[in-house]
Parts: sequence; C-alpha cells; structure tokens
Amino acid sequence: QEVIKTLGELTGKIEMPPLWALGYQQCRYSYYPESKVKEIASGFRERNIPCDVIWMDIDYMERFKIFTFNSNDFPHPAGLNEYLHSINFKSVWMIDPGVKKEDGYFVYEQGTTGDHWVQTSNNEVFTGNVWPGECVFPDFTRPETQQWWGTLYDDFITTGIDGVWNDMNEPAVFNGPGGTRPEDNFHRGGGILPSGTSLRYPYIYGLLMVKASRDGIMKVNPEKRPFVLSLANCLGGQKYAGTWTSDNASTLEHFKMATPMVLNLGLSGQPFTGPDLGGFGGSPDADLFANWIAVGAFYPFCRSHSEKGTNDQEPWAFGEKVENVSRIALQRRYRLLPYLYTLFQEAAQTGLPVMRPVFFADVTDKSLRAEDEAFMWGDDLLIVPQWSEDPQLPEGIWNDVSLLADGVENDGYQPALKQKGGSIIPVGSVIQSTEEFKTDSLTLLVCLDKNNSATGNLYVDKGEGFDYRDGDFEFCKFSATTHENNLVVTCSETGKQQTQKKRYYQIGVVNESGIQYSDWQSGRKISISLK
Ligand code: NOJ
Repeated sequence: QEVIKTLGELTGKIEMPPLWALGYQQCRYSYYPESKVKEIASGFRERNIPCDVIWMDIDYMERFKIFTFNSNDFPHPAGLNEYLHSINFKSVWMIDPGVKKEDGYFVYEQGTTGDHWVQTSNNEVFTGNVWPGECVFPDFTRPETQQWWGTLYDDFITTGIDGVWNDMNEPAVFNGPGGTRPEDNFHRGGGILPSGTSLRYPYIYGLLMVKASRDGIMKVNPEKRPFVLSLANCLGGQKYAGTWTSDNASTLEHFKMATPMVLNLGLSGQPFTGPDLGGFGGSPDADLFANWIAVGAFYPFCRSHSEKGTNDQEPWAFGEKVENVSRIALQRRYRLLPYLYTLFQEAAQTGLPVMRPVFFADVTDKSLRAEDEAFMWGDDLLIVPQWSEDPQLPEGIWNDVSLLADGVENDGYQPALKQKGGSIIPVGSVIQSTEEFKTDSLTLLVCLDKNNSATGNLYVDKGEGFDYRDGDFEFCKFSATTHENNLVVTCSETGKQQTQKKRYYQIGVVNESGIQYSDWQSGRKISISLK
C-alpha cells in the first residue's frame, strides 16, 4: 500500500469524477439513429434497470469526421442530450485523434493553418488511414496544439454532451506498421517536452491527448467535473482520464482475464478502469453475459459494450432470467454507491485503488498473492464470484452481506459479498440513476471485530463541481462499540455540509447468521439492542 501511495505522490492521483460516472453505462458500436439511442435509454427506465449513461460511438459523426454530427441520423444533438437529461441519463460521445484530410473541413483547415500535425522524419505532414480514410494527427507534444485542440470542444460540449471518449489514440493507423504510426514520425515538443520520434512518445500520445481534451472541456464548463475515457494511457494519465481495457472478446477466457487486468491497472496508478462487459468482439451467450454483469457491477468503471455486427447486448437481450440477474447486479452496485464514492475520494487523496487484490487484506499471508478471481472494494468488502472454485480468502472475520430482499441475490450468478470484521459500510437505497442519489437516510452495515468494535467512513459532496475543494463536503467517521446489551454507533463529522442536513440511520448488524436491522434513528449517537 505504501508503494502505491508513493506512486500516487510521484505520478499524480485521479481528480474526483462526477458521481454519474460511477453509475452503470450502456454502449455499443454504435447506437444510431438518435431514435435508437432514445429507445435504449427509455428501455432501462421502463424495465427499472439502473443506468446513468449512454454512449455514442463513431457513427454519430458525418463520415467519421470528428467534431461533426451526421445530419441524417443525429439532426438534433442538443435535443437528444436534452431528452436524455430529462430521463436522468448522461451522454458520452467519441472523439478520435485522426482528422480527415479534406479541404474545407474546419478541423483540417484550422489544424493546417496552425501547423498542428505530426510530421514524418522528413518534416512533412504525416498521413495515415483511420475510419474517415486518409487522416492527419495532432502533435499533442506542442503546447500550441494542446491549446488549439481544447478549443474544438467549445461548440461540441455546448450541445449538452456530458463526457468524452477518446478512442484510437495509440494512435491507431490502419495502414501503419503494427497498426500504428511509423517509429520515426517526428513530434516537435515544446514547453517541458523535448522533440522526438514516436518511440519517445508511444502511449504518451494518448495521455497528452486526454490532457488537452480535459483542459478544453473544463474551459467550456468550468463548474463541471470533466469525464474522459481513454483507450491509450500511461503512468500519470490517471489525472486526466479513466482507461478501459479495450477490445476484448465475448469468451470465458477474456471474461476471467478482466479481473486481473483491472487489479493490475489499479496497482499501476489507474483506479478508474473496467473491461467491456459482455465482451466486445463476438456475442456472449446468456450464461456468459449473466456472469459478466454480475461481477462487472463491481468494476470501478462499469460499462457494457459490443462490436458492430454482434447480437444485441443490452441486459434484456437474453431473456427474462438474465434481465433479472442484471437488474439485481446493478441494484447492488447502486445501493453501495455511498461506499464506492467514499473509495473514489480515498483514491483521489491517496492513490490507493478502489478495487484491490485480496492480498491487501493480509500482506503477510503469501497464499493470497496469486488470487485473481476474488477481489476487494477498499479494505472492507470482499467480492467472491460464484464460479470461483477455490478462492484464497483472508483469515479472520468476513461475514456474508446481502443488500436486497431475502434470497433475491441467490440466483447462482451474483458474487458473494463478505464484510470484514471491524468495519462499517454505508449503504444507500436502490435508485435508477445517480440523479436520485440522496444520503438523508443511510443504512450502516456494522460487522464487529473480536473486540466488539468497528469503524468506517463516509464521504459525501455534491457529486459534481468543485465546491468540495473549498470544504463543501461531509466526511463522517463512524465508530461502533458494545455497551451492555447495546451496540452504540457514533458519528463525527467534518466539512461544511454537516450543518445542512439531519440524517436518518438504520443499523444493520452483520453477523454469521445474517443481518439484524434497527429502526431508523437520527443523531450523532444511535444504538440498537443486540439479540
Ligand atoms: C476501437 C474501440 O476499442 C472500440 O471500443 C470502438 O467501438 C471502436 N474503436 C469503434 O469506434
């Protein structure tokens, strides 16, 4: 843990993401026309499956030209975003680095006038093929290019777009060696960055792109937290964007690889990551999708995505059984949002990952080192997949917790959740979107240690904007002890928000035989009589 915190000190930590980015996200290559986007978003609301975000892949553009909208399929992007917002959805739209080489196209014209393109070893403009055909590529090592790129987001974001997906930023070049640009491409550098070839700027290209994107988006909406997802990234890039594990396949092998990949990214300073749930290439069968979404609900970045030409992959596309499995999985995630958000705040403060390897629970227990099926959220919640045959779990008290009505989670797919003895986990209610997120009533799951005590934290802020930097947040420290036959839980709060609200608490005492709930109470000291 100390090593990872030091890595965070050296390379930077994430900024607090907007709360909505912690919700479930639905994507495909591509949802179009806009009526399809609306149909999918409404489909979640009609079926009461929690979801916060819908994603627009390249087909929204006019002939794959970035910063344009295809006027047949997406005639009213602002109207579409407005509709999505009206049903508590956010939208994320793709922007690639390849700029179509086409006279009269404003991005190409501006970039050429500003001399912004990556060069060949002979200092000519480099061109290579991507989706739109022959493209040129911004030289993000130049401060002037960074600045110009940012300005392209002005009109784009003003349509009400909430987040940006920077894809293909290795950068991918279809006719380049190894699918990328030649190693001797020349980047001019500037500021603190030296000039150099592509070899000097491999995936750093992606990092520099998302930095420029983030800065540009911030200028348009300075009061909002930007959300950027990147394909390519690099140490330090966690400050600018989340990263997903890119094109996987709908196979059991890739499904099982996702957990170690996300764990390793977390150990490498990138806590906000996840795979394409259900797999990108190919079509999962019902059983694979059900397993994937049940575990995937516990990845920090939680998005289903699939390739063009594959079968539908929405939670309802596999029949009623998988629809129920998906709903339950996502309801569990949304109930845990107070805890998850607190873990993101910890990641932003310390650099520690949100999703952690089991060996973090006991670094002296070498048997835990290779465990890569079970994993943890923070220090206090163990997630053990149903299909895991012989998971190596830490010693000590780890009691089962259920989050929904009796028996609902026993569908053969939902991972077992185990709470650490000595911990308190704050839990909210089942909601359909983070727009409904409230913390005026919370359940505290208390799992006592062998000395009959427990502690836990809760971080709350507006979930958006930057007022938290001026102290507009609430940080609660909970502690529980037993007194005669009572369990007494005390809350001590810091931050400006504490004076604003009265909160109701329900206590759930988690022991070996289940959870015993108290009535709702309010105050800084609450108690429950133990059976
Ligand atoms: C590659 C990305 O990895 C994938 O997620 C996306 O759908 C395609 N590019 C098309 O934009």
